[in-house]
Amino acid sequence: MLKLGLNIDHVATLRQARYRDYAVEYPLAEPSPLAVARLAVAAGAHAITAHLREDRRHIQDADVDLLKQLGAPLNLEMAVTDAMVAVALTVRPRDVCLVPENRREVTTEGGLNVSGQLERVTGAVRSLSAGGVTVSLFIDPDEGQVRAAKAAGAPCVELHTGAYANALAPADRDRQLAALRAAAELARGLGLQVNAGHGLNYQNLPLFIRSVPHLDTLNIGHAVIARALTVGIERAVREMLGLLRGGESQIPLP
Ligand code: PXP
Repeated sequence: MLKLGLNIDHVATLRQARYRDYAVEYPLAEPSPLAVARLAVAAGAHAITAHLREDRRHIQDADVDLLKQLGAPLNLEMAVTDAMVAVALTVRPRDVCLVPENRREVTTEGGLNVSGQLERVTGAVRSLSAGGVTVSLFIDPDEGQVRAAKAAGAPCVELHTGAYANALAPADRDRQLAALRAAAELARGLGLQVNAGHGLNYQNLPLFIRSVPHLDTLNIGHAVIARALTVGIERAVREMLGLLRGGESQIPLP
């Protein structure tokens, strides 16, 4: 079955909006990413994904420590810097996903340019792998980037689904799906695990999983956390898991 990696960043975004000046451990610093992650895992989420950004705008170092202690598989998203590699080698999450970071972006915008910085990415993959971490590279569905991910020694890619999620015209959507399908087939052919994420929601997910083969884990944040505000995190997770099992969405658009 397709697995759900629940991206928990937006829970921390909400907490930081009110409690930026307080420690993560401050008892009133709500909502708690750890508490939400615990409920999500109990509801069936297969892994928790958290992006420790260099500017610490949402997830804090203490959140990462707490999420690691939760015991569920942790996928740490991070920039390709020596400082972040050092953090990951201390925390030792099960997985690390290397992403590009631009301080002005609201959320990750494009895939990592692996082919344009092969030496740097290869070094990070090597250090993390030697520390027992499974490394994934978040890339656009592009042949050159898939081949570069393989060359960098990563065992896994996460295909960026943002362009698919943003495509409104059917022709554009089909073009994005074709690119994702080709990238997934190439990656699998090269022996890489294929994950995907960014902008996936209860509406666009059924077509995506019918169209793209070889998927292992989908990392989804915004849609599930937003839905949790009205139905609760457990139901929001269960509904998403239903779609991952091949169900069609019964959830009306907002
Ligand atoms: N995967 C990666 C690498 C991301 O950077 C993000 C956004 O933080 C996601 C998945 C989840 O995207 P969304 O919140 O749109 O579901």
